[in-house]
Amino acid sequence: MNNGINNLPQVNIAGREFKSDPYPFYARLRAEAPVYRTVLPDKQAAWLITRYDDVLMVLKDDQRFVKNFRMAKSDEQLAKLPWIPPMFKPFMNNLLDSDGDVHARRRSLIHKAFTPRVIEQMRGRVETLAHELLDTAARRGQMDLVRDYALPIPLTIISEILGVPPKDREKFHKWSKTLLSLTSAGNSALLGIPPILAVIRYLRRIINERRRNPQDDLITALVQVEEAGSRLTEDELLAMIFVLLIAGHETTVNLIASGALALLQHPDQMALLRRQPELIGSAVEELVRYTGPVEQATERYASEDVALHGVTIPKGEMVLAVLASANRDERTFDNPERLDIRRENNKHLGFGQGVHYCVGAPLARLEGQIAINALVQRLPNLRLAATPEALRWRPGLTVRGMEALPVAL
Ligand code: HEM
Repeated sequence: MNNGINNLPQVNIAGREFKSDPYPFYARLRAEAPVYRTVLPDKQAAWLITRYDDVLMVLKDDQRFVKNFRMAKSDEQLAKLPWIPPMFKPFMNNLLDSDGDVHARRRSLIHKAFTPRVIEQMRGRVETLAHELLDTAARRGQMDLVRDYALPIPLTIISEILGVPPKDREKFHKWSKTLLSLTSAGNSALLGIPPILAVIRYLRRIINERRRNPQDDLITALVQVEEAGSRLTEDELLAMIFVLLIAGHETTVNLIASGALALLQHPDQMALLRRQPELIGSAVEELVRYTGPVEQATERYASEDVALHGVTIPKGEMVLAVLASANRDERTFDNPERLDIRRENNKHLGFGQGVHYCVGAPLARLEGQIAINALVQRLPNLRLAATPEALRWRPGLTVRGMEALPVAL
């Protein structure tokens, strides 16, 4: 038995440098320490699970790996947690922080409002938007592919679905960017108070408006949704809209931008997709696998001592299932380091698995397929306008993506 600590270097898995290329470290963990204890910048311990089969097991075993840390931690462990400002509390009533019946109830309510029809209706809108953005870029001959293309598509679409007016979208993205970088960077939680207060004030106002004046949008549908007589409470509603807005754009932006970078770095695959646009379905699955827009699943907590590969994860400690590592596991994928847009039977875990499987996967696929195909078909001379080493990656846990991606057209 050991505690999983060995001679591997301690790295800051939320730091910019690590984010630029986490794959060699994960390959070492899979080989040498598949259950590995690290310390996050906020001083919390986290156990990294890096092999495919183990990641799958963690995601599916929602009895031993729970989301609600209050159910897993002892009083002593709870007392040691970093301070959480009280105004963050409403957001803890969200899908990703709940288990069992509470989660199932919230999830069934979202499924009632966020239906395949709502998503499919956006197809034409995504196409028009992608082409408008490329028209603008083509006139300039260059763009920052993140700011000018990959971000506006999912941000506009999720805002339109929910009913967030255009003038408020940039503001919302700034708040969410600050909050995402805070969660794990070890900065004081105090820095999160102004954006969180702004978000709460903003969402309460929009919810009240929709109660008074219903519209044809998802916020109205969520306000009205009712199943077996159980409406969402005000805090649940707030948390639901917040998670949808953040998960609805902070992930897909990385699929489009990192996907474009991967194709630029693999000209044979770019050329193949140009010749055969019908490959876009398998290409997007492969880009999710290869680029890891969500690098680690959100945190879970061991509800009991769990023994795995000779290591014991103590009850109450945080567990991170590293999706980006599972998706490069040589035990599961042939040539995992190769980008192969024709890959068949691609069982990647990029959208998670089990009860928390991504609610937005159909929308992410729709946006990713349209955005990447438009880019590849419309811009035959697309090329990087910076060296790969100069690209800056965003710090933080969970998502992985670039700050900017300068390209010439
Ligand atoms: C490429 C884009 C996306 C990727 C890679 C992705 C990935 C994921 C993953 C891995 C999870 C599971 C997290 C866990 O188990 O800890 C998840 C959950 C979730 N995703 Fe996505 N996502 C994407 C886009 C979206 C979009 C567009 C939306 C909304 C419109 C969305 C909404 C959600 C929600 C609400 C959950 C929580 C589900 C639950 O807890 O039951 N995602 N996503």
